[in-house]
Amino acid sequence: MIIGIPAEIHPGEKRVAASPEVVKKLVDAGFDVVVEPGAGVAASFGDDVFLEAGATIAKDTARTWSADIVIKVRPPEHNSKLGRHEIELMSEGACLISFLWPAQNQDLLQKFAERKLTALAMDSIPRISRAQKLDALSSMANIGGYRAVIEASNLFGRFFAGQITAAGKVPPAKVLVIGAGVAGLAAIGTAKSLGAIVRAFDTRPEVKDQIQSMDAEFLELEFEEDGTGEGGYAKVMSKEFIEAEMALFARQAYEVDIIITTALIPGKPAPKLITNGMVKTMRRGSVIVDLAAEQGGNCEATEPGKVVESQGVYIVGYTDLPSRLAPQASQLYATNIYNLIMEMNQENDGNIVVDMEDDVIRGATVVNNGEVTWPPPTIAVGAERKPSFGGQEIKSRDGEKKASAAAKEASGIARFLKSAWFPVILAGLALFGLGQVAPPSFMGHFTVFVLSCFIGYMVIWNVSPSLHTPLMSVTNAISSIIVLGALTQISSTSTLIYILAAIAVFITCINIVGGFSVTQRMLQMFRG
Ligand code: NAI
Repeated sequence: MIIGIPAEIHPGEKRVAASPEVVKKLVDAGFDVVVEPGAGVAASFGDDVFLEAGATIAKDTARTWSADIVIKVRPPEHNSKLGRHEIELMSEGACLISFLWPAQNQDLLQKFAERKLTALAMDSIPRISRAQKLDALSSMANIGGYRAVIEASNLFGRFFAGQITAAGKVPPAKVLVIGAGVAGLAAIGTAKSLGAIVRAFDTRPEVKDQIQSMDAEFLELEFEEDGTGEGGYAKVMSKEFIEAEMALFARQAYEVDIIITTALIPGKPAPKLITNGMVKTMRRGSVIVDLAAEQGGNCEATEPGKVVESQGVYIVGYTDLPSRLAPQASQLYATNIYNLIMEMNQENDGNIVVDMEDDVIRGATVVNNGEVTWPPPTIAVGAERKPSFGGQEIKSRDGEKKASAAAKEASGIARFLKSAWFPVILAGLALFGLGQVAPPSFMGHFTVFVLSCFIGYMVIWNVSPSLHTPLMSVTNAISSIIVLGALTQISSTSTLIYILAAIAVFITCINIVGGFSVTQRMLQMFRG
């Protein structure tokens, strides 16, 4: 099959859907690749490097659009130079892979359907672990988060890291990151590596560990509401929660120098979290970078695509942050597209099959051979392909590769061996065997030992990992119950036993008092 790579025509777009490295891999996989002249120039990939990688340079735009598979960054749009919509340039039965935002671009889906085309949206790839290597949203958000800090540092008139110089002491910059998804975590990492003091807030409590593992401070709210929604994404929070959160940001606005906001719930307008009043309280020269600008912005003063200044505070509303790092963004995006194509090129023969039985391909396919297939059925994120107790149905690829009865039986045994029942039955048999040979007194102690291991396991695994250290210190304190043994001996008439018991009481007391006070201090740290 021929893969066409047209130039992006959207104003200001510098990315290209393929890098020379990916073109080479596609050619090796049996595809013919046609690139529009100059398609990669804005991303620093000249036509010569594409030629070297094995592509041919098309003589005009139309040639790349008439390929069997067209790969692109932005959704197709009207090409004013040619006077035609890009979709009209595609051949019947062809396939387009690009960002498409189907919820906002229903008219585009109709256009694909009318022309009997197939379209896969890179933004609709399910965010499940198996599809991570295809996840272009994460690749771009990662770049967006990084670039947000770089844009902020460009406008901010001071160092990020604190310094003590002969000319005086420079305090470190304080950065607040709101929303710790992919973009937020990338921003935290970048700001930290530049030496700033970083604080972050998110409505999903499970990101706390991730934030702390990056050595940033997780701001906590005294409010009982979990922001975790369907599929690991955030959910819309109650009005009361948003008010409490905004009160927290109002306090932070007095203190911090830079705010990077990335708060968003997919398919919803961005929550307004930073008011004009808060902007006023920030020091002159402070910077706000609003990554949610395209979805309405998290800051009231944001103007999408622009940098505005309000009372000495800069508010950056750029909506093209990945494009501002075009070579890097193109390289990562191209790799995501390559991985998607290879998922469909199962026979490794330079052809693709759109397999609607495959969760990932089904999720990304918004139009299949002229039929609009968006929205896809919801899949349980994280639950896919997890073996269950009873085992799970094995999917066949479009009915073409039906497994034989023997193969099914073999895979049934393999699934049983991998399932959770197998170790349970094995342990039961081992215990039974031991019971036959061991003395009865041993079995009594052994049963208590196994049960205490089980209870210990269940207790620890139900405690959030961040609380494991305080749990250990409290266990340490409780283990000093052995002090009772020393106390019963301390009134002994033998001087030796008396001295030993006194030492034991002294040492275990250190353990008890120390253990409880360390636990107390740690829990206070968690309460902020
Ligand atoms: P994501 O969905 O992984 O992260 C969003 C985070 O915001 C989640 O962790 C969520 O829990 C949190 N959140 C939602 N409501 C909140 C609230 N009220 N308070 C605090 N946190 C809240 O999304 P991702 O991929 O990290 O992208 C973040 C944003 O950045 C999106 O709006 C995306 O479109 C945008 N973006 C913008 C770019 C640009 O050029 N301006 C480039 C890349 C991403």
